[in-house]
Amino acid sequence: LSSNVAIVGVGMTMFGKREDADVKELGFEALKAALEDAANVSPKDIEMLFTGYAWGYTATRNPTGELAEYARLSPIPGFDVHAQCASSTAATITGWSFIRSGFAKVVAVVGVQKMSELSGREVQRVMGQSADSSLEAPLGMTMPTAYALRAVAYMEKYGATEEDLALVRVKSSEYASRNPFAMFRQKFTTEDVMKSRPISYPFKLLDCAANADGAAAVILASEEVATKITDTPVWIKGAGLATGQQTVRGVPDLTMFTPTVEATRMAYRNAGVEPSQVQVAETHDCFTISEILDYEDMGFFPRGEGYRAIREGQTYVGGRVAVNVSGGLLGRGHPVGATGAAQIFGITRWLRGDAVGDIRVPAELGVAYTRGGVGTYGAAIVLSRRR
Ligand SMILES: CC(C)(COP(=O)(O)OP(=O)(O)OC[C@H]1O[C@@H](n2cnc3c(N)ncnc32)[C@H](O)[C@@H]1OP(=O)(O)O)[C@@H](O)C(=O)NCCC(=O)NCCS
Repeated sequence: LSSNVAIVGVGMTMFGKREDADVKELGFEALKAALEDAANVSPKDIEMLFTGYAWGYTATRNPTGELAEYARLSPIPGFDVHAQCASSTAATITGWSFIRSGFAKVVAVVGVQKMSELSGREVQRVMGQSADSSLEAPLGMTMPTAYALRAVAYMEKYGATEEDLALVRVKSSEYASRNPFAMFRQKFTTEDVMKSRPISYPFKLLDCAANADGAAAVILASEEVATKITDTPVWIKGAGLATGQQTVRGVPDLTMFTPTVEATRMAYRNAGVEPSQVQVAETHDCFTISEILDYEDMGFFPRGEGYRAIREGQTYVGGRVAVNVSGGLLGRGHPVGATGAAQIFGITRWLRGDAVGDIRVPAELGVAYTRGGVGTYGAAIVLSRRR
């Protein structure tokens, strides 16, 4: 493989309800912001476009085509990358591979989703179809239920409590209150989480990430281009992808996600780093339990000790590793196809020494990890300030 690849521009829209924009307009808003951020890249420099997007929430079936035309990027090549919630992380890995293979020097990745056109009930149905389509989805498996089973298994095995889960949302809300792109800006206490309405035991409303509209974009460039156009490239040191079980009943151990373990292990290996070196991480906290499982599956804390890490505040800025200090999926909102690119947006800014809102994280090495489906896809990217 030829050369190193850097992130030279990032941008995102506010996450939340966006009645004023359709899929291509949301995508364009993020792309425009990323191009403005990449000071020396103009639209004519973009050689390929990849869109991370999950089908089923809107009528749009070809977001890359719509966006390429709307942004006047056609006829450059491009395609949609679909890996459920991991779509735009997988799209970024796709762009990285195309540059490394010598096919292009500058590519754009856009993650986008508009979920507000469907009712909450419809979204549940579409999302539930991420579970096995003949064996579990028809029996009523939904995302909150699939993750609730994991939360119960974890609590029973290790003695974590509902209050421990709530502490994850308390942290998210603290940071989301400082992130202007976040859907939920209010701070919550453990009591607020415990008193919110029941969803699927042990989850209450505030244990869950919310469906949202939004987009985020990343501009990638080869080493040759990046070193000429910017003084603050953020390097993709390594990436990893994995698949896991499509059925919940097929999962051998509900207290871990195999795709998280495998994708992050692959990413650390090809970046040549150890999880103990990671200083900042954006992970897939679609429910409060998810973040605790991620701490363990990504190698930050030993098995069974993730809940102690949040109790001890070790995943706040200044702790052992800053996790989801953008507010995460819980605080930022979760427009599924856009989430991975939004994670990369935050880590890139922090590694460059920039803030997100007033959130700054002193760090040189970070990882973004996104999980798709009921634990079906894992996608991880290791980012560094050093080449
Ligand atoms: C938890 C959940 C079921 C609630 O959905 P719902 O009952 O249909 O709720 P609605 O979307 O109708 O929202 C009702 C209110 O609760 C708020 N709300 C919804 N979800 C919220 C959340 N997760 N956190 C905080 N507030 C939330 C809404 O903003 C809305 O507030 P408003 O009345 O002031 O406008 C839904 O957010 C959900 O399924 N979340 C998980 C999404 C998911 O699984 N993603 C993929 C994971 S990999």
